[in-house]
Amino acid sequence: MEGMFMSKGENIGIFDSGYGGLTILKEIIKVLPQYDYIYLGDNARAPYGTRSFEVVYHYTREAVNRLFDMGCRMVILACNTASAKALRTIQQVDLPRQDPSRRVLGVIRPSIEALSGYSSNGHIGILATRGTVASESYPMEIEKLYGVGRFKITQLACPMWVPLVENNELTGEGTEFFIRKYLTQLFTLDPDIDTIVLGCTHYPLLRPLIARFVPPHVKIIGQGHIVADSLANYLVRHPEMERRLGCGGSVSYYTTDKAELFEQMAGIFMGYEIECANVQIC
Ligand code: DGL
Repeated sequence: MEGMFMSKGENIGIFDSGYGGLTILKEIIKVLPQYDYIYLGDNARAPYGTRSFEVVYHYTREAVNRLFDMGCRMVILACNTASAKALRTIQQVDLPRQDPSRRVLGVIRPSIEALSGYSSNGHIGILATRGTVASESYPMEIEKLYGVGRFKITQLACPMWVPLVENNELTGEGTEFFIRKYLTQLFTLDPDIDTIVLGCTHYPLLRPLIARFVPPHVKIIGQGHIVADSLANYLVRHPEMERRLGCGGSVSYYTTDKAELFEQMAGIFMGYEIECANVQIC
C-alpha cells in the first residue's frame, strides 16, 4: 500500500460518504503532493444526502474520530452534505471540548469564496444532494459573504446522481436520462443561469455527461481545485499546523465496505491502481 512508507508526522484526513471525495483528493494531491493523506469513504452507509441532520452528524462524527485515531491532525470533510449538516457542530462544540489543536474543514465555504470569479450575470445554479439543499447552507453562506441580491441562487437536488456514481454507472442511456432530467428542471427554474456549482463531490464524476447537456456558455464549477487551493492557503496561514504534518507523500485508502470494490472504482477515477483496506468505524 502506498501508505506503507508514511513518514512520522501526522496525516491529513479526507472524508466522504463514498467515492465523491476522491474528486477533492485528486486535486489536493496535485497541489500539495508532499503531505501524507488518509482517505476514508463510508461506502457502507452511503448515500448521506437523503439522511436526516442527526444521522449525518452522527456518521460524520464517527468517521472524523476514526481518522483522528488513525493519526490525522486535520480532516477535510470532502462532502457537501457532511459540511452542511455536521461541520458547524464539530467545529464549535466537539473540537473545543475534545482537542482544540485539531482541525476539521469543509468544502462549502471555499466554493462560495471562489464564486465571484465565475458568473457574468449573477445567476447561479447549485446542484447538490437533498440534504445540502434543505440545509440552505449555500444561500445562507452566499448571503453572509456577498450580501443580499448580489447573486440569484437556484438550488436543485439531484437524488439519483449519487447512486449512479456509487454504482459506477457513469455513462449510458439511463444515466443520460437522469442528467437531462435535473438539468432541464434547473433551467426551467431559471433560464438565465450562466454558472453551475457542482455542490456534491460525487458529481464531477458525471461531469463529461453534464457538460453535454448544458448550453455552451454555461460555466460548470467543480470543487476539487478550489478546495485544494484553499487548503494550501490555510497551511501557509497556519504554520503551527503545517509543522506537525508528515511529508512522506503517501496516500492510504480506507472504506467501510468491500475494499476490492473500492479499489476498482477508485483506480478508474484516480487513473492508477490503488490499494485499499476495510475499516470499521462504528
Ligand atoms: N459526496 C457527498 C456530497 O458532497 C455526499 C453524497 C451522498 O452521500 O449523498 O454531498
